[in-house]
Amino acid sequence: MRKPLLILAALALGTTLTTHAKGNVEAGKAKSATCAACHGADGVSTVPSFPKLAGQHYDYLYQALKDYQTGRRKNPIMAGQVENLTDQDMADLAAYFSKQRGLSVKY
Ligand code: HEC
Repeated sequence: MRKPLLILAALALGTTLTTHAKGNVEAGKAKSATCAACHGADGVSTVPSFPKLAGQHYDYLYQALKDYQTGRRKNPIMAGQVENLTDQDMADLAAYFSKQRGLSVKY
């Protein structure tokens, strides 16, 4: 009787941790509306000056957003975009864009 409960508890804990650490795709989608203006629908930019976000690695996207916010990576446009984002927002956005496909789309 005890084993199934333990497994359930472990699964529940695992899910919670994953959601927090990796961000939530659905929440990211909801937060990504403003990004689409430059980075294109679903992160598939059609303008060379705006990088494609679709299908980039989660860690890369998350780190880029973090770096714009801390000023480690300097870009006036993106600095303004991430100014008011929380850590969770950045994780959600990174999760969302990393799950999109479209890197094969050519400019
Ligand atoms: C007004 C236009 C604009 C908007 C809106 C915008 N971005 Fe950007 N973004 C840029 C530009 C320009 C760059 C390239 C900056 C650079 O060279 O570092 C960039 C770069 C990035 C990068 C780095 C990509 C790479 O390949 O290194 C990420 C990640 C990113 N943006 C995420 C977002 C997210 C998430 C949002 C929405 C919250 C957003 N951007 C909204 C213009 C925009």
